[in-house]
Amino acid sequence: MARIIGGVGTTHVPSIGSAIAKGLQQDPYWRPFFDGFSVAHRWLAAEKPDVAVVFYNDHGLNFFLDKMPTFAIGAASDYRNADEGWGIPVSRPFPGDAALSWHIIEQVVADEFDVTTCQEMLVDHAFTIPLALLWPGADNRPVRTVPIAVNTVQHPLPSPGRCFKLGQAVGRAIASYPQDVKVLVVGTGGLSHQLDGKRAGFINKEFDAWCLDKLVADPAALARRSTLDIVEQAGTQGVELLNWIAMRGALTGHVRELQRNYHIPISNTASALLVLESEEPMELRKAG
Ligand code: DHB
Ligand code: FE
Repeated sequence: MARIIGGVGTTHVPSIGSAIAKGLQQDPYWRPFFDGFSVAHRWLAAEKPDVAVVFYNDHGLNFFLDKMPTFAIGAASDYRNADEGWGIPVSRPFPGDAALSWHIIEQVVADEFDVTTCQEMLVDHAFTIPLALLWPGADNRPVRTVPIAVNTVQHPLPSPGRCFKLGQAVGRAIASYPQDVKVLVVGTGGLSHQLDGKRAGFINKEFDAWCLDKLVADPAALARRSTLDIVEQAGTQGVELLNWIAMRGALTGHVRELQRNYHIPISNTASALLVLESEEPMELRKAG
């Protein structure tokens, strides 16, 4: 049976892609951010997940404002990256896991989530940068992937509660997958940031800290808030937190916090990393 090893939430600011391309990881500006990933790297090297299921938001590369699915799940054998205008290098395609994708799609539709299924899907910085951060090295591809796009762009957005429930449905779907695969769940974006309008540059450290605490210990408290409340507290783009909430929903059992990093700013964004390991039920631990 498939097993979820845990979840990671990480920022996906495009300038991280330029920093990686220029090899600036040890530059004084970037170091506090990149150094934050040390434990995540050790953990992933030890656990060796086979698949990453990635909740992210498309930034106009694959879907535009004229057609915006609330939830879209990739069901392709690979996912091409294309230049969506940030000038960051285009990476080679990411391998998919179409069999797991279809299993997840069938299960979540049976669970009354009306998702858009994408047998072709381009992926943008919100997908490529987190994977490059978790598995550094040019075009490194140690996992197969299942992209799940959440609309955090064009209102009306799904509620935090709905995203949490989608994550729970995806978590149940993965747990019922008969193949013996280890799965990492990823949620990308955030934390607080606003790119335009009167509050451009807005960052809310207190709210971010509250969110990180709740993501670990009490995600239902986050799920009870409204989307507009999150926009107000975290900024118009800080609402990408919805992807983290979905990721947390997929971690159905107890979790242990392995790593947290919070650094202000990366570009105009409060950057964050949270690594959560799924705790195995006692019976499994004893049996193992
Ligand atoms: C920027 C873009 C993003 O998608 C994001 O999540 C944060 C920052 C930017 O353009 O700086
Ligand atoms: Fe973004």
